[in-house]
Amino acid sequence: MNILLLGSGGREDALAWRLRQSPSCATLIAAPGNPGIARWAECIAINPSDGAAVVALAQERDVKLVVIGPEAPLVAGVADACRNAGIAVFGPSAAAARLEGSKGFTKELCERARIPTAAFVRARTVDDALAALDRFGLPVVIKDDGLAAGKGVTIAATRAEAEAAVRAAGDTELVIEQFLDGEEVSLFALVDGSHAVVLASAQDHKRVGDGDTGPNTGGMGAYSPAPVLTPELEQRAMNEIVLPTARALAAAGTPFNGVLYAGLMLTADGPQLIEYNVRFGDPECEAIVPRIAGDFAALLYAVATGGEFSAPELSPQAAMTVVVAASGYPGDPARGGPIDGIATAERIDGVRVFHAGTAAHSSGALLAAGGRVLAVTALGDTLADARDRAYQAVDAIDFPDGFCRRDIGWRQLERDHAA
Ligand SMILES: Nc1ncnc2c1ncn2[C@@H]1O[C@H](COP(=O)(O)OP(=O)(O)O)[C@@H](O)[C@H]1O
Ligand SMILES: [Mg+2]
Repeated sequence: MNILLLGSGGREDALAWRLRQSPSCATLIAAPGNPGIARWAECIAINPSDGAAVVALAQERDVKLVVIGPEAPLVAGVADACRNAGIAVFGPSAAAARLEGSKGFTKELCERARIPTAAFVRARTVDDALAALDRFGLPVVIKDDGLAAGKGVTIAATRAEAEAAVRAAGDTELVIEQFLDGEEVSLFALVDGSHAVVLASAQDHKRVGDGDTGPNTGGMGAYSPAPVLTPELEQRAMNEIVLPTARALAAAGTPFNGVLYAGLMLTADGPQLIEYNVRFGDPECEAIVPRIAGDFAALLYAVATGGEFSAPELSPQAAMTVVVAASGYPGDPARGGPIDGIATAERIDGVRVFHAGTAAHSSGALLAAGGRVLAVTALGDTLADARDRAYQAVDAIDFPDGFCRRDIGWRQLERDHAA
């Protein structure tokens, strides 16, 4: 079948690579794609959030499956546009994408379905939000309701900090919630209506600096699996969080279809939901996808069309992704810096270098064209092996403007070391 993949980041490069290897994939098209994705797909420059343009391209090219990478097209209803045109699509409707698009929507769904999550209040004005602060101790968590590109959450240690965050937000919709103590982990599930299976677990690293210091980013690295989510905890998270969510959406007439990313806090009382995303995480996707065995395109097609699917077989190997960003990131990143040595890096066993923000110069040179530039991924028999290979690959790449964290996986590597 012909497949159209929407998006242009490292996540989509990993998806494209795996789709291209799938026996059931005939032609792979990406919109808009990037120079890494162009290794596996024909890239076509349309706006992936323009539903009419996506449908027209899919029809013109006899596409049987549309795979949506990023959240923006989902929230904009591109999956609905495809389904309305009779095209199978892996990705939720705009109604189901509210799980990511509105934190208040998700919290209320959790309340109705008795899903474990932090106690919360939805507030629509500064006065409501200030009043809500009285209901919680410190620290307290203040969140923008809508998509905020990782910049919408304040964890306030003092009442003064909390009030400042509320006033800075103004009269917009906020969620004020109780602080949860524990370790964070991400669980990815494949969902079609009330059917949901585990895909994989992962942990990411949001802060820009080693030791989890400095400002938040889109993610500086990830690894999969995350052994801190034991089989028992994973089963609890499926039974107590993911399945009730899928059933609640199906019962409301807005079934979820695609990959559901549950951000979990492993508390003393068990897993609790921090938030949902309605697509693969980036860079978690780059660490998960190389572990998935079998025909990946056929799996996504089965999910998209309500076919039969079960949890895919995963490689017993561990995977680590190290993001190489352009200096300045997450502020204003240096643009246009030359990148060389990717082919050398990919000669290391188990290594793939996915493109997150690159541009091909007319001379043939590869240039940096974004904050996060490369997602360097390696498989290994242990996480330490995967780490060693990933950093060997990073060091084989010549990108003077680039930097990366040197401690991806530190939590688990310390645990493995102590064991
Ligand atoms: N209730 C909470 N208790 C403790 N930490 C939280 C809580 N909610 C969010 N956080 C922290 O803030 C981060 C961002 O919050 P999240 O809800 O994931 O929003 P987003 O990813 O949209 O910025 C989380 O990854 C977690 O580290
Ligand atoms: Mg989050």
